[in-house]
Amino acid sequence: MHGVSCSCIYSCWYYGKTGIKRGSIRRRLQLRMLDINSSAASSKVFSSTSKIEKILTFAAMEIVVSGIRSTGNLHLGNYYGAIQNFVKMQHEYNCYFFIADLHSLTTHPTPANLHNNVKSVLIEYLAAGIDPEKATIYVQSDVPEVAELYLYLNMNAYLGELERSTSFKDKVRAQPDNVNAGLLTYPVLMAADILIHRATKVPVGKDQEQHLEMARTFGNRFNRLYNNDYFAEPHAFNYSNNLVKIPGLDGKGKMGKSEGEGNAIFLADAPEAIRKKVMRAVTDSGPTVENQPKPDEIQNLFDLMKVVSTQDTYDHFNNLYNTCQVRYGDLKKQLAEDMIIATAPIRDRITAIAADTDYLGKVARLGAEKARESASKTIKEVREMIGFKSF
Ligand code: TRP
Repeated sequence: MHGVSCSCIYSCWYYGKTGIKRGSIRRRLQLRMLDINSSAASSKVFSSTSKIEKILTFAAMEIVVSGIRSTGNLHLGNYYGAIQNFVKMQHEYNCYFFIADLHSLTTHPTPANLHNNVKSVLIEYLAAGIDPEKATIYVQSDVPEVAELYLYLNMNAYLGELERSTSFKDKVRAQPDNVNAGLLTYPVLMAADILIHRATKVPVGKDQEQHLEMARTFGNRFNRLYNNDYFAEPHAFNYSNNLVKIPGLDGKGKMGKSEGEGNAIFLADAPEAIRKKVMRAVTDSGPTVENQPKPDEIQNLFDLMKVVSTQDTYDHFNNLYNTCQVRYGDLKKQLAEDMIIATAPIRDRITAIAADTDYLGKVARLGAEKARESASKTIKEVREMIGFKSF
């Protein structure tokens, strides 16, 4: 793989940003129907059939939901490990990607920090190729129906099971002075995030499996209580062949920002910062025997090269290693330049989008509108099932 391969980089999604129109989704659908009718009238039967098919396909598409925590900048691990899959999924599924700002309240961010974090996640996801015309990208707090469903689900979530959640236990250990009810019911809010769109597919990592299990439990419990099968079971979903592990630069585990400055390469990093971090990556004193196995820290650099460099470059340095002629300085220089090239389009778009407040506003409003359309339908039906009736 060479460089950043989001299909929509140079397509219309950003530069054709005027394509985002105001108005309800229903209206847009109506416009499309009108379009179909008029083309049918002009006897373009084949193309109109395919348009109808497209709309029906969209209606029948499985629903994907994933929440993105608004904690700091995105790094190469996030990009190659998750976002690239989101970008692919948006063409194949009815995708909802949201920025989990309600979840972030458990740590009491200041209003300014809260907003800045949400903004930078929105910018970076758009820059990485999530297309607001294809996927629904929204801010969680823009959809109050989520909070309402969370309240209903809370009535059937039990203290014992919530206390047993691994992530809750970890948090209790990590922040014993801030064990709030929001933390305890985090899995209920996550269930509401997913069930509000009645999603069945949830692209998340292994660490979220227990939360998903709880989402299934809460959905099933609701169904049993009201004697129906309203909520389908959500399951973890990823393109298995795409689960690449992106190692960090500290010679140890995977790339992550909590492992300290210098371990992660951020999509927003300037070229000079990338060069500095890569040149400081941990190496050893070099191979002494031909074809000797690579120690972890060297394997990590080769793994990164596999992702950002061409096969030729990879083979070149691999041969040098195997014949004990490798110079790590050269290898790192090459790796840094290839990382810079791979991330350049995203970096450019981050700068452009960050400067375009109008565009960001439009994206957030369109996302909120599309998400609320789906969420309010669920809430209306849920309220009926629960038995709320107007006088
Ligand atoms: N808990 C997820 C995480 O920590 C974020 C999240 C919140 C989420 N709500 C979700 C993921 C709904 C998928 C679906 O990464």
